[in-house]
Parts: sequence; C-alpha cells; structure tokens
Amino acid sequence: MKITATIVLAVVIATLSIEARAEDTCNLNIADRARAAVAFDQMLSVFRHPRCANCHGALNVYEADTAHPPGSMMQTETDIFGDTMSTPAGAETCVQCHDAARGEWIQKPNPTSEIQWANLSDEDLWRRLRNTRIITNRVTRETEDSTGNLLIQHTRDDPLIQHGFAGTRAMTANTSWWGERPSPEPPPFTKEEFIVALEDWVDALDARETWPEGDCSVALAERQFSIRSLQYPETIASGARAIDLTVVYSGRPEFPIQVILQPRTCPSDSSCGTERRNVSETSSANTITGTGMFWCTGLSASEVWDMDYEVVLMDAQQRRTEPFASPVTCKPPEMRTR
Ligand code: HEC
Ligand code: HEC
Repeated sequence: MKITATIVLAVVIATLSIEARAEDTCNLNIADRARAAVAFDQMLSVFRHPRCANCHGALNVYEADTAHPPGSMMQTETDIFGDTMSTPAGAETCVQCHDAARGEWIQKPNPTSEIQWANLSDEDLWRRLRNTRIITNRVTRETEDSTGNLLIQHTRDDPLIQHGFAGTRAMTANTSWWGERPSPEPPPFTKEEFIVALEDWVDALDARETWPEGDCSVALAERQFSIRSLQYPETIASGARAIDLTVVYSGRPEFPIQVILQPRTCPSDSSCGTERRNVSETSSANTITGTGMFWCTGLSASEVWDMDYEVVLMDAQQRRTEPFASPVTCKPPEMRTR
C-alpha cells in the first residue's frame, strides 16, 4: 500500500515538473536571463518612445481620423517593400515637411505590417524582433531573416532610426509645414547607448548568428511595475478639458489602475491640484489612458507658464510606480474672435 502511494506521488510530481518546463522554453542560465531582460527593458524606453513608436504603428498617417497634424495622407508610390507608399492628399510628398529626410521618410501603410509593432506587448515585441525581416539593401529592396548581427547593423546604419534618435521628426527650419511646431523630445538614450543595450541583449541570448530555440521573453515577467513613457501635449491651453494622458508601463499590474497626476512644485501665483482616473482595462499592450485630465486650470499673470507635474500609477494591490516627470507649458485659453 505504502509503496503504491509513493509511486503515485512520484508520477504526479514528474508530470507537474514537465508541465512547468513546457511553459518556460528558455534555455539560458539565470544570470543571462536577467541580463537579457534588463537590456531589453532599456531598449523598450526607446521602442516605446513617440519618436520611434509613432512611425511603427502608434500614429497612422493614412487613417481618416489620424492625429497627424496636416491630416490624412494618401498612398500612391511604391515603397522599398513594394507596398504602396505615400503622398499626402494635398499632393505634397512627406519630405516637403519632413525635409531633413529626403528620399527616406516613409511609414509602412499597412497597419498589420510586421514592422508596426507599437501596439504589441513587450513579450510580443521581443518575439517580433527575432522573427522580423530586416532590409539589407534599400536600393535593391533586399531583405534577410533577422539575426542579432543584422539587427545591430540595421540600427547603426538605418537613416530612419538616426532621425528617430535626433528627435526632430526630420523637420528643419526650411520645412513647408505652416502650422505650429512644438519642439519634440528625443528618446531617453542616444543611439550609441541604445546599441550597447542591444548588443548586451543579443549577447545574453547568444544570438549574433542565429536566434536560440527557446523563447526567453518569459524573463520579462519578473520585472517591476514602472512607468516607461508618457504621451500628452507639450503645450495646453488653460481650461482645456478632456486632455488624454497615455501611459506606457512595464510589469504585471492588476486592474483597475489609478492614474495619478500630481504637482511636484506649484508656481506661487497658482493653485495646483491632484487628478486621479481609474482605468479598468488596457487600451493596447502595456498602455493605459487617463481620459479628460485637467492640466492647466486658472490663469497666470504671465503669457505662458510652466507646470511641474509628475505621474504615478497605483494598481489594485496598492503597488505604486516611481513618479514620472510630466512637465507641461500652459497658455491662456484660446480667445474667440467675435
Ligand atoms: C520615419 C519613420 C520611422 C522612424 C522615425 C523610425 N523607424 Fe524604424 N523603421 C521604419 C521603416 C519603414 C522600417 C522598415 C525598414 C527600413 O525602411 O529601414 C523600419 C525598421 C526598423 C527596424 C527593423 C525591422 C523591425 O521592425 O524589426 C527596427 C528595429 C527599427 N526600425 C527601430 C526603430 C527605432 C529604435 C527608432 C527610433 C530611434 C525607429 N525605428 C524610428 C520607419 C521608422
Ligand atoms: C504638410 C506637412 C507634412 C507632410 C506633407 C507630412 N507631415 Fe508628417 N508631420 C507633420 C507635422 C507638423 C508633424 C508633427 C511635428 C511636430 O509636432 O513637431 C508630423 C509628424 C509625423 C510623424 C510623427 C513623428 C514623430 O516623431 O512623432 C510621422 C510618423 C509622420 N509625420 C509621417 C509622415 C509621412 C509618412 C508623411 C507622408 C506620407 C508625412 N508625415 C507628411 C507635417 C507633415
């Protein structure tokens, strides 16, 4: 009797451990797993940054209700992948406005294209980078299956990535854009710093020549709950309502999540309050939106004034992120003429 029970138990344990292993196919040792996850986390602050993400699916300039300032673009020419490309409805080409990128400034028109990774989860983006095809010759349109080395080389050489890191949206003083042009923020790392993280990720995975069999993106699940980036207008008219704040986070928070916008310091001639929004679900991967925030209430004696805010997330388990700086420039409410 006793022996049978032990055998049964042993069989159960064996089955359980096989199941546990089937879920986690990563063959790396613990140190390399952690190293890959830390390096990828650094890369994510660049991938998720608007200067890169806007061109990789976060902003679709071909959509009818696009947030692209001059409006929706049309697709006419053929791009380097053989997909139809892009001249705007007003018969201008992209580079009349994005004039530092002659012959280069393109966005893939197909929202399901493999390079439109902005809305993927962190894990899916990890897997996507190893499964993508990399353009190796912009003239002949040759592409090759991704390897670590190709990804590193592409990041070094690609003019679009260079424009992303420059942070200017490839617009110079000579742009034909007639509208307001707030100076955009570059990503938080330089290209050189990004390449150090990329090389570290590739080397931790031993993926210079070929990607390893197992899926090591599981290592990302052990990360802390933190804010990676914020998106909101850099300048806001006082009294303007319904300003949405988009927050990209990492980690595995439990919903609902509270988006908290609080003053860090308050100008002496203003009164500043804290705003909270409960968000019950993610709008897309690792992204939540606090809708209708009040940023710039009241008036100031000055023409424009700066508010020193910060954002904190708190999840259902009361886990809080570190505060993330969210400065904003306020201006008087838009005056109506007559
Ligand atoms: C103007 C649009 C644009 C900007 C800005 C841009 N990219 Fe790209 N990116 C593309 C296009 C289009 C491709 C496809 C290949 C090509 O044309 O180089 C691409 C390809 C890539 C690839 C290889 C293919 C893939 O998706 O796996 C990576 C990695 C990449 N970009 C990262 C970045 C990073 C990091 C930034 C910001 C520093 C950035 N990109 C900024 C448009 C852009
Ligand atoms: C009439 C001028 C104009 C034309 C033409 C134009 N854009 Fe833009 N685009 C802008 C402006 C203005 C911005 C926002 C710049 C700012 O706010 O500083 C912008 C921003 C973008 C961004 C976001 C970049 C970032 O880093 O946030 C992308 C991507 C983009 N445009 C793609 C395109 C593509 C692709 C085309 C051609 C199909 C195109 N644009 C044509 C004016 C133009």
